[in-house]
Amino acid sequence: MSSPIIYLDNAATSYPKPERVYEKIVAFGKSLGANPGRALYKMAVDAGEEYERARQAVARFFGVGDPSRIVFTMNATDGINMALKGILRAGDHVVSSTFEHTCVLRPLNRLAKEGCIELARVPPEADGRLSPERIARAMQKNTRLVVVTHVSNVIGILQPVQEIAEAAHGRGALVMIDSAQATGVVPMDVEELGLDVMATTGHKSLFGPPGTGVLYVREGVDISPWREGGTGDSEEFQPEKFPVRLEGGTLNTWGVVALAEGIRFLEEVGVEKVHEKESRLAGMVFAALGEDERIFLYGPSDAPRTGILTFNLCGVAPPIVGNILDERFGICVRTGLHCAPGAHALYDQPEGGVRVSPGWFTTEENIKTLIDAVREIADELAKEPAVRRGAAGT
Ligand code: ALA
Repeated sequence: MSSPIIYLDNAATSYPKPERVYEKIVAFGKSLGANPGRALYKMAVDAGEEYERARQAVARFFGVGDPSRIVFTMNATDGINMALKGILRAGDHVVSSTFEHTCVLRPLNRLAKEGCIELARVPPEADGRLSPERIARAMQKNTRLVVVTHVSNVIGILQPVQEIAEAAHGRGALVMIDSAQATGVVPMDVEELGLDVMATTGHKSLFGPPGTGVLYVREGVDISPWREGGTGDSEEFQPEKFPVRLEGGTLNTWGVVALAEGIRFLEEVGVEKVHEKESRLAGMVFAALGEDERIFLYGPSDAPRTGILTFNLCGVAPPIVGNILDERFGICVRTGLHCAPGAHALYDQPEGGVRVSPGWFTTEENIKTLIDAVREIADELAKEPAVRRGAAGT
C-alpha cells in the first residue's frame, strides 16, 4: 500500500476540506437542488433562503454590516475582472505593484495596452512590503484605483493594506485588495481596514469548493455589470441593486452553501489559530533551511507572514526538486512561476521557485518530513552556495 501524500499546496487550493463541507454539497444537492429566485414552490424558496444565509455568514465573517454588499463570484479572478472592468473608465490612472498575480496583472496590462488606462507599478521595499508613502507618491490627479495583493502567492508576506487604503483615500482614489491568499488565514474586517473592494476566492483557506468566490463592494461604490442576464425578474435592464446587479445567471448554490459551511468551520477553529499555526509551520522551514548556504529562501523570515514560502536549491531547476519531492517522498508542492512572474523577478529567480504552503490540516511531522527531504535532495543535487536570502529589489 502506498503511503499517504503530504499536501503542501494549500495556496493553490486547500485540501482536504473539512468533512462537513463535502457532506454539505451532497446533502444540499440532494434535498434543495431547485433554482432559487425563479419559482415560488417550497424547494426553490428554501434553496434561496439557504443561499442568503450563506451570504449572511460571509458578511459576518468579513465584518460587513450589509450582506447585500457581498457578491458571489466564480473565484478571485472573476471578481477582480468584474471590478476592474466595471469601475475603470477611459483616461483613468491606476496604481498597482510589481509583483501581482496575473489576475490583476493581465486585465490591467490589457486595459493599458488598449490605451484605456495609465498604469504605475510600485515595487516593494527590501523587506518585501509595499510602502504606503511610495504608493501615495505614484498617484496622480486622475488615479481612480489602487489595486494590490494582500499576501503575495509567492512570497507570503502580509501587506499593510489598511495604510495603503488610507494612502489611496488621502488622494481621492478607491482601493481594491486581492485577498485570495489572506482570507481565512488572517483575521479580516473589511470595513475596519477601510477597503472599497475586496476580491477573494472560496476554494483556498475559506475551505469552499472550486468555482466559488466573494467580492465585497463598499456601499456607495458602483461596479457596472458586464455579465447581464437572468436574475429571476423581468426588468429589461440589469437591476441597479446589489447583489443581483453582479449575480446574473443561475447561481452556484451548491458551491456557495458549501463555502458557508467552510466559513462556519473556520469560525469554530478561529482564524487567529489558523494564522498562528501556518506561520509557525513556515517558520520551522525557515529556521531549518535558512542556515543552509545551498538554499535560497525568498524574503526575510521576520516579516509578518502567512504559511506560504518559496525556496530554491542552488543550481537545481525547481521542477526537478518538485518531481523528486512528489515521486520519492509523496510531498505535493507547486513549482515554477506561480502565475506571478514579477514576484520571482524581485528575487532574481527567472525559473521560479519551489513553493511550500501548509494548511490547517498540516502537521509538524509533515513539515519535518519536508525539511529532511529537501536536505536529502540538496545533498544529492545542489551545486554551489546560494546568494543568501535576498532582499526584494527596490
Ligand atoms: N493562484 C493559485 C496559486 O498560487 C492557483 O497556486
